[in-house]
Amino acid sequence: MKDYSKYFKKPSLQEEAKRCKDRVVINKEGLLLDEVTSDMGKNKKYFVRTYGCQGNQADGETIAGILEFIGYSKTDDVENADVILLNTCAVRENAEDKVFGEIGALKRLKTTNPDLIIGICGCMSQQPHIVDKILESYPQVDLIFGTHNINRLPLLLKEAYFNKERVVEVFSNNNEILENLPVSRESKFKAWVNIMYGCDKFCTYCIVPYTRGKERSRLIEDILQEVESLKNAGYKEITLLGQNVNAYGKDLNLGYDFATLLTKVSDTGIERIRFVTSHPWNFTSEMIDIIATRENIMPYIHLPIQSGDDEVLRRMGRRYSYKEYKELYDMIRSKVKNSSISTDIIVGFPGETEEQFENTLKAVRECKYDSAFTFIYSPRVGTPAAKMEDNVTDEEKKNRFNRLVEEVSKSAKESNDRFVGKTVKVLVEGTSKKNENILSGYSEENKLVNFKGDISKVGTVVDVKITNSKTWTLEGEAVGE
Ligand code: 5AD
Ligand code: SF4
Repeated sequence: MKDYSKYFKKPSLQEEAKRCKDRVVINKEGLLLDEVTSDMGKNKKYFVRTYGCQGNQADGETIAGILEFIGYSKTDDVENADVILLNTCAVRENAEDKVFGEIGALKRLKTTNPDLIIGICGCMSQQPHIVDKILESYPQVDLIFGTHNINRLPLLLKEAYFNKERVVEVFSNNNEILENLPVSRESKFKAWVNIMYGCDKFCTYCIVPYTRGKERSRLIEDILQEVESLKNAGYKEITLLGQNVNAYGKDLNLGYDFATLLTKVSDTGIERIRFVTSHPWNFTSEMIDIIATRENIMPYIHLPIQSGDDEVLRRMGRRYSYKEYKELYDMIRSKVKNSSISTDIIVGFPGETEEQFENTLKAVRECKYDSAFTFIYSPRVGTPAAKMEDNVTDEEKKNRFNRLVEEVSKSAKESNDRFVGKTVKVLVEGTSKKNENILSGYSEENKLVNFKGDISKVGTVVDVKITNSKTWTLEGEAVGE
């Protein structure tokens, strides 16, 4: 190993698997800057591409905010960029393959612009074997940093830029919450609000507890302050983010939980509140009651089931049986008016039998999901499931996946059909790429609606009468135009 900067810290999976009992440190320092870094981006441009979940999208907006704070301006064209950052996802192999393809494609830019900095951050950076692969095979990458040290980005960039050495700084175990970082939000009316970081569930297939660290909740006053300032800035919708929002507050031991948070966020009067993701394990009836009774909490719940078979659920480490899941599901459906429920499903978990897969199909049929995200199981290095024996062929997995998609599509279409002739409230996000008179946005139930309306309505909530339903979208016309 040579030519590495003094910043050379690789991740360790063993360290990432540990959970310390220490109280979380709230770091309010904000950005770490010095004389050089505070305006090092002047007259320079940055390009950030984010992959993966909403949590990672939110990180991408913080990274953009930091770069803008130190003078960089945004470009959507990699050819013009002085800094390119790929904010990556590690949840499945195909997400990682896309990133490696992208890194390969960026190599030629180094010959036309030798000062270009290419950086990799996000969940892939937290995996030791990925860092090794990049160091060995992708010399065009100058900088690797992880999910825990975004606040140090200016410092790391300076090191990569001035010392011309490869910078690797990935912390494995983290007990901090970073507050007061600048954010550059993509939307002027929809915003992500982190309420907690990390995950302690350790589902056997999942890499997230390693890449994102232990469950850490933000203080309720910090969250409320952010929501208030978003409301004052004209934001119409916020989405509360966490790998498992129902566990909010547990680590703090301050006597409040997700139900308390929902109530207080609702009291701010912001127009629309959403939240993701809900693990069935910590969902209480009190939380459901609040969702059911508060007008500004949207009746949409993402409730991952992963499998409809008890034995597979047990081997996944999901901590519930299908019966328990279905009871919770039914309670939500009966209490929350016009509820819309989506889910995540994995097919081809190691050793999944045809019969076990059919239990998943049966669950989809019974639950009548409004939509579902379906995945073929992807082994993740270091997770328990990756060591389980797997005798299901790729062909069989693909076949099950296709059958599942068919079942899920049927369910989604039936769900959409019930909206035809009804009027829904849509927060208008923009116009169709093909036709300026076609607007689109999401209904309260999280249905994507395309409709005829006036461009001046972008950023407002309008009533739309639904005239037609497709599997994944609704079509309609603005009422009163
Ligand atoms: N393989 C396939 N899908 C996965 N997910 C998480 N880990 C894996 C994996 N190893 C899916 C789960 C999760 C969603 C975000 O991604 O369904 O809920
Ligand atoms: Fe991907 Fe999970 Fe990381 Fe989100 S937390 S970016 S889904 S690996």
